[in-house]
Amino acid sequence: MSGTTEAHGLTNPEGGFPPPAEFTAQANVGEEAYERAAADRVGFWEDAARRLDWTQEWDQALDWSNPPFAKWFAGGKLNVAVNCVDRHVDAGHGEQVAYHWVGEPGDTRTITYAQLKDEVCRAANALTELGVQSGDRVAIYLPMIPEAVVSMLACARIGAVHMVVFGGFSPDALASRITDAGAKVVITADGGYRRGAPSALKPNVDEALTKTEGVRSVLVVKRTEQEVEWTEGRDLWWHDVVGGQSTEHQADSFDAEHPLYIMYTSGTTAKPKGILHTSGGYLTQVSYTHWATFDIKPDTDVFWTAADVGWVTGHSYIVYGPLANRTTSVMYEGTPDTPHQGRWWEIVQEYGVTVLYTAPTTIRTFMKWGEDVPAGFDLSSLRLLGSVGEPINPEAWLWYHKIIGGGRCPVMDTWWQTETGAHMVTPLPGVTTLKPGSAQRPFPGIAASVVDEEGKPIEAGATGYLVLTEPWPAMLRTIWGDDDRYKDTYWSRYGAGVYFAGDGAKLDEDGDIWLLGRVDDVMNVSGHRISTTEVESALVSHPTVAEAAVVGATDPTTGQGIVAFVILRGDAEDSGEELVKTLRQHVRKEIGPIASPRQIMVVAELPKTRSGKIMRRLLRDIAENRELGDVSTLTDSSVMDLISSKLPGAKED
Ligand code: WTA
Repeated sequence: MSGTTEAHGLTNPEGGFPPPAEFTAQANVGEEAYERAAADRVGFWEDAARRLDWTQEWDQALDWSNPPFAKWFAGGKLNVAVNCVDRHVDAGHGEQVAYHWVGEPGDTRTITYAQLKDEVCRAANALTELGVQSGDRVAIYLPMIPEAVVSMLACARIGAVHMVVFGGFSPDALASRITDAGAKVVITADGGYRRGAPSALKPNVDEALTKTEGVRSVLVVKRTEQEVEWTEGRDLWWHDVVGGQSTEHQADSFDAEHPLYIMYTSGTTAKPKGILHTSGGYLTQVSYTHWATFDIKPDTDVFWTAADVGWVTGHSYIVYGPLANRTTSVMYEGTPDTPHQGRWWEIVQEYGVTVLYTAPTTIRTFMKWGEDVPAGFDLSSLRLLGSVGEPINPEAWLWYHKIIGGGRCPVMDTWWQTETGAHMVTPLPGVTTLKPGSAQRPFPGIAASVVDEEGKPIEAGATGYLVLTEPWPAMLRTIWGDDDRYKDTYWSRYGAGVYFAGDGAKLDEDGDIWLLGRVDDVMNVSGHRISTTEVESALVSHPTVAEAAVVGATDPTTGQGIVAFVILRGDAEDSGEELVKTLRQHVRKEIGPIASPRQIMVVAELPKTRSGKIMRRLLRDIAENRELGDVSTLTDSSVMDLISSKLPGAKED
């Protein structure tokens, strides 16, 4: 895994990249954190929790008497929004910028902590006026505008549970999430800017609300000034309802285990899982990891997580972690190539970004565009880089390190999940000798291990499954409304108390962890988790499709690409390109553009085992044009010939 990558003349030194001396000298967290946590894991997290303001101290740091249902800091009380905003204003930092917000068309907004506090209080008063109470669920379906952050914090402030749905999801996906969560209020916008044009959101909400009941009010932020349909008595303009409120709001404290948010993520069945996060433990770990992994210095850093608030990365490292640490962040609305391919680097230069956190798929896209693009900008403010969402291939790591980081910025490859809430396996900038492609060590206070089928720890050099063997503060508490599924999905494979992450991993001689991707039926497309079953059920819901099988095939830019094999119904006609287009459109409508298959092949048969299970491994071989593996367990091995013979006609665009 070490050696030289030829393509960009980048060298991966045999001994790795030692931590730069200036980091070791002044890092927020040093080697001793590992020792402290090893000696007293729970006590280590208690120290981390004390970085926050509590109105009442907890009685018990960890209650694990009923695994897998954990309670952290039980009896303790705090207000998450007050910790993220008010306490910094009270400490005299009201004038510090919380967000440099950059709209895609070039408009900007600078929001200080004092202004953020006013906005959050106004929104909290507005939600209260709309009848939202502690424990109620509020759906948020917004573009990357400051109101997304304000809405989340306003919910947290009054104890309401937010459920953010990524703006790229379809009306159907939005409706099913609203139904599952039982949301009463939806916060949306007329639209947002993407790829140089306004993209409407409100019509999606209108359509979604024809498919679900229980939503009483829709708050609409005016962003793009697009025409919107209006349902009197239900729809309200944000500027009318929030704008006129008082900036005074008395915040209550909530129990550490009070629900903070639900975030839906794909699993191995068609129904997305509502991952539930709670307050005290979550905020403790996101803020501590943000401070440690990125070595955040609140007075001088300009931090940029280039992700959408609609995903967990945005929740933890655009909103909660950075704000709890009084960080100045950049928030950018649009796409990296609008209006030109240097847009990100222009933003780094303009705001003097010091820490940049993004996904490997984006880095590979930048590699494709060429190093001349970033070379046109001054990136010397950068001092640290982060990666998240999928394994980063060493070549992309080295390019990021050299071309973006000028060879001086440590790269933190952070492994974690929607379910874990915060960083779990990652290097630390002042401590770790970096190995490109490896997420390296469990974070201090985190117990991770790589095990075999039986759950026994593997030897160096072997491959197995990543598991977490002790509870952690930011862990999910359950799947919303489905404790059984929570137990079955994560805690049943190796017995109570062992969390199965669903990722394959390898251990090297030094005990460093190399993540290898999902081992279940979840694909990772551009860092987004999409379930094969979810796409399959979208396809079979189309009247022409009898059966469908979906696999994630290796893709040089997006990590994986979605490839679908479909069998048509007897009476349906294979109209070639036309049909493929229709089916792709159908998936976009059912789930959203991110789930649209890269390739759809119409086949006469699907390879199945004798027990009727579709053999995705073989389909993946076909999709990747590999030599076919062992077909002896197939019911009928001629099926593969049949499918392969279809390949020249395979459609792609
Ligand atoms: C993958 C995103 C390797 C992994 C925060 C995990 C990674 C899934 C890494 C979670 C990484 C995330 N190296 N793989 N540094 N980070 N993954 O829930 O497969 O959207 O299970 O959370 O992304 O994706 P999710």
